[in-house]
Amino acid sequence: MADQKETPDLFSEAYAKSQDEQDPLSSFRDQFIIPTISDLHAKTLKPSSQDQPQSCTYLCGNSLGLQPRLTSKYQQDYLQTWATKGVYGHFTEIEDSNLAPWLHVDDDVIGDVCEIVGAKKNEVAVMQTLTANLHLAMASFYRPTEKRWKIIIEGKAFPSDHYAVESQLLHHNKDPSTSMILLEPTDPDNPILTTQHILATTDEHASSTALLLLPGIQFYTGQFFDIATITAHAQKHGILVGWDLAHAAGNLPLKLHDWNVDFAAWCSYKYLNCGPGSIGGLFVHEKHCAVSATAEKGKPGYTRRLSGWWGSNKSSRFAMENVFTPIAGAGGWQLSNPSVADMTALRASLDIFNKTSMIALRKKSLALTGYLETLLQQLDMEKTFSIITPSDPEQRGAQLSLRLASGLLDHVMAVLEQKGVVVDERRPDVIRVAPAPLYNSWTDVLRFVRVFKEACDEASSQKEGSTETSIMVEGGKEDKGWSEIK
Ligand SMILES: Cc1ncc(COP(=O)(O)O)c(C=O)c1O
Repeated sequence: MADQKETPDLFSEAYAKSQDEQDPLSSFRDQFIIPTISDLHAKTLKPSSQDQPQSCTYLCGNSLGLQPRLTSKYQQDYLQTWATKGVYGHFTEIEDSNLAPWLHVDDDVIGDVCEIVGAKKNEVAVMQTLTANLHLAMASFYRPTEKRWKIIIEGKAFPSDHYAVESQLLHHNKDPSTSMILLEPTDPDNPILTTQHILATTDEHASSTALLLLPGIQFYTGQFFDIATITAHAQKHGILVGWDLAHAAGNLPLKLHDWNVDFAAWCSYKYLNCGPGSIGGLFVHEKHCAVSATAEKGKPGYTRRLSGWWGSNKSSRFAMENVFTPIAGAGGWQLSNPSVADMTALRASLDIFNKTSMIALRKKSLALTGYLETLLQQLDMEKTFSIITPSDPEQRGAQLSLRLASGLLDHVMAVLEQKGVVVDERRPDVIRVAPAPLYNSWTDVLRFVRVFKEACDEASSQKEGSTETSIMVEGGKEDKGWSEIK
């Protein structure tokens, strides 16, 4: 009897609530605006007329993070500065605002971003957008020679990375069909790329490869790659290594400097909560950042790059002398003066991250995603869905990707949306579910699993019904397609 009492019912609200109460990070949730279900479904921005509208269950920080409450206050300050100071906003220290003068907004965020990605202060620039930064990094670090010209990426890379690499190859007159080495999973039913397989492919093309570009966390499967091991192995063969950290930055602790990564780029709209299309980040290891005063004949005394005035030394930037002297660090890769609206959103986000640490967030994330995994496993619905994300917590971040049986996705997504559960889909059959440790709770996870089960049951029985109808109809000579029956 006593034993039975001690085994908690993981599917009970009481259990989820008790976990939330014990969560030392639970108060961060209040610092974010969680859309209400009625607002999600409304086609206008008018506030809901309901007395106590129910918050949605938002598990989509892997796609777009929620808005911090601070963002709107900081944006108001920025707009007010612009309205009241005009161009002086570039230089004026505003006493009653947390925001730096616009001239310094980029420097102002660097230290905090370095904490998130594990970099030294001279190794990070906040600039441009993710794909643009990958191109800028490749302009420096993809320098094909007769002997080395190939680029290794995943066969299922995020399309933007695929296009970026393909276009870099074409830009250098290389044929992508032979120069782009695509890593494919060894088992077609399991989309995970093992470290061993990546190392073996690297070995196979070692002498002819110039660059290896991989994601820190794979967008589709949620797999977290062993960045340190893969980087060291490729570098041993003289290959430069870059990482797309779209799904990793702000999700789990990173140590880009210690892992000796050559370059990396990320966006800030997912786990960094800066809003759609907001400013990106670039890491360049300090070993590539040196600027020597004495340039060799015909060669600049720094790593070659595509340049702009914002990458040139700050003290002489406004001298207008047309002598590019790069900032000795990743800042030297900047092109333009950055969008202050974007930097303001980033400042708001970082002011929340600053109140905790990536280590604390990871601790919660491991527990929360572990809870999600356990509940999903206990549903015992192997015929309906499988988890394709690695089961080893060290090989994943917050996200779990669920592959549904064929023909269920549309119906399941429709039910989730109707019930105010926000996740996203990757066709043909995957749902990505990401409990973000800053604002998600055990109660969110429980609600997702309950609604997901309902949605799967409904979709499966509808599919069965339709199949039966279809068989009956076929038997009865009238041949109707699946979509019509649905
Ligand atoms: C893994 C990955 N790479 C690249 C991108 C493209 O990012 P951007 O549109 O900011 O260049 C995304 C966008 O979601 C992504 O998830």
